Amino acid sequence: SDTVEKCMRHITPHVESTETKITVVGIGAVGMGAVSALLTQEISKNIVLLDMDGRKVAGEVLDLQHATPFLSNSQVSGGTDYSLSRNSKICVVTAGVRQQEGESRLNLVQRNVEVFKKIIPPLAENSPNCILVIVSNPCDILTYVAWKLSGFPQERVFGSGCDLDSARFRVLLAQKFGIAANSVHGNIIGEHGDSSVAVWSGVNIAGLFIKDIHPQMGLDNDPEKFIDVHKAVVQGAYDVIKLKGYTSWAIGYAIAHICRDILDNVYAIHMLSVNVKGFYDIKDDVFLSLPTVLASRGIHEIILLTLSEEEVKKIQESAKILWDVQKDIVF
Ligand code: NAI
Ligand code: LAC
Repeated sequence: SDTVEKCMRHITPHVESTETKITVVGIGAVGMGAVSALLTQEISKNIVLLDMDGRKVAGEVLDLQHATPFLSNSQVSGGTDYSLSRNSKICVVTAGVRQQEGESRLNLVQRNVEVFKKIIPPLAENSPNCILVIVSNPCDILTYVAWKLSGFPQERVFGSGCDLDSARFRVLLAQKFGIAANSVHGNIIGEHGDSSVAVWSGVNIAGLFIKDIHPQMGLDNDPEKFIDVHKAVVQGAYDVIKLKGYTSWAIGYAIAHICRDILDNVYAIHMLSVNVKGFYDIKDDVFLSLPTVLASRGIHEIILLTLSEEEVKKIQESAKILWDVQKDIVF
């Protein structure tokens, strides 16, 4: 406008900052949980929201733009047009249907494959070098679908997987020991969901391996019933869905944590859903969570956990369960 022209003389053109650009596709409960965590923790300076629901996404963008002064001036934009996502460093996919009370994640597969066919190709086209973080359920199978549809190398397509399940595990163990959740080390691997595997052999506090002093931990005959902790991890999402209809905060923070460690290039370990073909004698292109080292180019390394025979068997069973569903997917 004339007034602006009178106030300032332009020296350089406006350029978009893409160093920390993150696109979140699907701005439902999970997508907005992630966006909120990304903004308040100042992980990204440029967040794009995409959704098929044009009115809802316009409303969310406007509402968040009103918060800009409280959020270190991070830019928020969005809409239904995938060109808005151009040159994103990370694209997080949380779009699609979610479970009804009591429904399993695997039951969502064909409906969300249809959603992914619409989402992944334009995302990959607009940000050919981005990292795709898949969250929609069933997370592991949809990560495989996104890998196929994007044509990206496997280090740049992974699922948020068991980062969330491991957080739940640590929280519940911490409550048992009466210490802080991030002082308990323990991981859940395998399927994000019903057939996940608790790595009892690795559970430790301050380097004290609980299995060494309580060998029955995780077994059915354990009088202290540690196995119930894992059951509660699996049941956790069902409980939250029964109470509030969906899960959103824990997964939102988990997504933000993943994004921060990618952008910061700190080589942090996360339980992410990756192609496990060749690991533990698995022969199919199945995606399951294993401990991975995450950096700015995606999955840097996969940690070769020493698992007990029982744990290997369970991982192989998870792989079989997923492959049985995956092999019937119509692309
Ligand atoms: P929601 O129903 O609140 O939001 C889904 C959003 O996706 C809606 O805004 C909808 O308009 C959008 N959408 C649907 N089809 C689309 C398309 N073709 N293109 C663009 N946008 C589209 O669902 P909520 O609760 O946010 O859950 C989203 C997904 O995340 C579900 O599949 C759910 O099971 C999964 N989830 C995964 C978790 C994990 O740890 N991996 C944790 C929690 C949920
Ligand atoms: C979770 C979703 C439902 O919160 O996968 O675990």
